[in-house]
Amino acid sequence: MHRPDDLAQQFPPDFQWGVATSSFQIEGAAREDGKGESIWDRFCRVPGAIADASNGDVACDHYHRLDSDLDLIASLGVDAYRFSVSWPRVQPDGAGACNPKGLDFYERLVDGLLARGVKPFLTLYHWDLPQALQDRGGWAARDTAHRFVDYARGVRRRLGDRVAAIATHNEPQVVAVLGHETGDFAPGIKSRKTAIQVAHHLLLSHGLAVQALRADGCIAPLGIVINLAHVEPATDSPADVAKARFDDAAGRRWYLDPLFKGQYPPEVLDALGADAPAVQAGDMAAIATPIDYLGINYYFRMVASADGSFDKAKSGLALTEMGWEIYPRGLTALLLTLHREYRLPKVYVTENGGAFKDPVVDGRVHDADRIDYLHTHIAAVAEAMRQGVPMAGYMVWSLMDNFEWSSGYAKRFGIVHVDYATQQRTLKDSALWYREFLSRCHARRM
Ligand code: FCB
Repeated sequence: MHRPDDLAQQFPPDFQWGVATSSFQIEGAAREDGKGESIWDRFCRVPGAIADASNGDVACDHYHRLDSDLDLIASLGVDAYRFSVSWPRVQPDGAGACNPKGLDFYERLVDGLLARGVKPFLTLYHWDLPQALQDRGGWAARDTAHRFVDYARGVRRRLGDRVAAIATHNEPQVVAVLGHETGDFAPGIKSRKTAIQVAHHLLLSHGLAVQALRADGCIAPLGIVINLAHVEPATDSPADVAKARFDDAAGRRWYLDPLFKGQYPPEVLDALGADAPAVQAGDMAAIATPIDYLGINYYFRMVASADGSFDKAKSGLALTEMGWEIYPRGLTALLLTLHREYRLPKVYVTENGGAFKDPVVDGRVHDADRIDYLHTHIAAVAEAMRQGVPMAGYMVWSLMDNFEWSSGYAKRFGIVHVDYATQQRTLKDSALWYREFLSRCHARRM
């Protein structure tokens, strides 16, 4: 059994504990109060795009259950709640004046968190681009970066004085690769060249937005959230080691080197040849505008083998319901790599968690797998911190079960169970464990 006590003692009193969600995955109310269509609203209508043919029209109905969900969040005893703003709620067509009703919702959310003593961590873009902008080229069009800056400024004007942090983007790599190279996610484009250009425009929009928000007098700390895997070679053969080094450069360094060193990894640029992005003068300097914090989403390791022979089914590691290897040691290793290679600002783990089977028995969910997952990953964060990484917080993905993108509702990541037929929320054992753990952490503040 995992004793919350020992682990709690390893964290400083000001460490921020939270839970995370995103707009499209929980809000529903897809067409209310002037909200425009997003690329995910559209993508869900493509036959075969979503495993269970579901969509985000209702999701967790969070839009209509805001107050009780805020009570639920507060009841966990968290310090922070990470949520995202739906761009098409705020700017239905992705341009022009803000829709006041859209901003009203997020103002109620932010004020409701503050009233309950929970710090709002706001993400501007968690994948729900206004469809109107997609119709004008989406992230493949450089102009979308400028539209993003306008949107960011509109959100800052209403909420920037009260949020604890603003992240520009969530996981630009997933937007670029799954959205534009494999086509598994909205907008479902399949072109490597497009994906590379999209990644550049996402990073550019981040840098331009940070500059604009600061120029507007933003007082909230500004950052970005990057998904990172820990990459390991399958064997210590030179070919596998070289493959691991390249995969790490093409994944992690493609995003973090521009942000912290102002350049793309040269070996990856070379390998891309004609697919290399179009970069204008000043872009790299804009992308490297200093940030106040870095958010990291960590779920798994990646094993590189030169001949592609590695089979994770045979690795001996347990897998989650997503088929992702459970590998907490990779989180420590990853954080240490970042600490070695970059001058890091404050670092938050902004997402970490797992999908498990979660049977409901007599109104309880005994998700021992998830407790084990959270405990071991939190211990991995403690170890990185002990070795000097400037860790500032940790947020569980997710507050509650929700729309897991192309997997639909079948994959459940919540520490709170959602019965989609009744919208009833039930704390899983992992939520009870987390609450108990946080009360031990907070006891150390006295
Ligand atoms: C991350 C996403 C988040 C959620 C988790 C499981 O890539 O940021 O929305 O889907 O994966």
